Amino acid sequence: MKKRSAIFMINMLLSMFMIASCDSSGGNTTTKTLRDLADNKNIKVGAAVNDYYLSYETAYSNTVAAEFNTLVPENVMKWDTLEPAQNVFNYSKADTIVQFAANNNMYIRGHTLLWHAQLPGWVKSAASTNRNNLQSILENHIQNVLTKYKGKIYAWDVVNEVVKDDGSGLRCTTDATPSIWAKNSTDDSLIIAAFNKAHAVDPDAKLFINDYSNEQYGNAKANKLYQLVAAWVSAGVPIHGVGFQLHLLEESPPDMQKVRQNIERYQLLGLEVHFTEVDVRIKTPVTQTKLDHQAEIYAALMQMVLDHYSVNTFITWGVTDKYSWIPNYFAGYDSSLMFDSQYQPKPAYDSVINLLQ
Ligand code: XIL
Repeated sequence: MKKRSAIFMINMLLSMFMIASCDSSGGNTTTKTLRDLADNKNIKVGAAVNDYYLSYETAYSNTVAAEFNTLVPENVMKWDTLEPAQNVFNYSKADTIVQFAANNNMYIRGHTLLWHAQLPGWVKSAASTNRNNLQSILENHIQNVLTKYKGKIYAWDVVNEVVKDDGSGLRCTTDATPSIWAKNSTDDSLIIAAFNKAHAVDPDAKLFINDYSNEQYGNAKANKLYQLVAAWVSAGVPIHGVGFQLHLLEESPPDMQKVRQNIERYQLLGLEVHFTEVDVRIKTPVTQTKLDHQAEIYAALMQMVLDHYSVNTFITWGVTDKYSWIPNYFAGYDSSLMFDSQYQPKPAYDSVINLLQ
């Protein structure tokens, strides 16, 4: 009897200790998630998500809800999904993500309105047959989409990837990767129209121009984007920030000092910078050394968020290596995110957590 009551007492004490070490949300105080730590610091930490996995894979939806406070639809707010035929709007997939965010008290970034890719055929043929029509097609798209999601999206990538890779100007109809949105490399009229329309419909949303290889001060493309943005700001175009996609390579990360310099010149223009599509791809085979180096790169980026008031958003392009776009688009590369394909946190996750603690 005596022995049994002693065991009972020990069990009671143990469970009291466990209750004491849990916070009100039911989480264990000793294992705060990325989301908990980011919330404490008013940082938006997010992931690009897929509506299908959110609905049908519990490990996916649980990881998203526990670890992130911000979502961006990876594909389903692009033109081909939202307006597949002229004036036929299909919001059902985007709504799945918006509803998930509402249920879990999360922010949403919208992606994207004016882009050369993932455009339906009808927009491309309208561009080639009747270019004069293009501005009203663009404005109608923005009118509908921003009205639908007004008040639910804190920032929009209004414009995506419009600067040529060599920095010589805007991607245009004659470019190697052509864009229907500019007649020539200096024609920014539709870009400006997009910002004006978006601002007229949702004046509270922060409006962004987003791109890749635009993060490093001194790089030709980064400098070109800066010049364009500076000119738009001084002309009064409603633009509030620049998205650095940051699809990086573990073997050749950018010069972080120059990334800071770039953030600072945008800060001087009164603009925010968001890290919108972070991933750090590793050339296979993936080794511990490479994973540790990847972790340093993730931490260096998060350190910039901590150091600059104008950078408040850190979004990874995906949740888990299981579903990342990287292996499909960059042969011989993998393992670019903070969670591996079994949803286990990688050194990159630990390095970001350590920094935020
Ligand atoms: C990618 C998606 O991840 C893929 O699933 C899709 O097939 C193609 O687009 N820059 C962007 C994103 O702005 O929209 C791209 O997303 C990745 C590069």
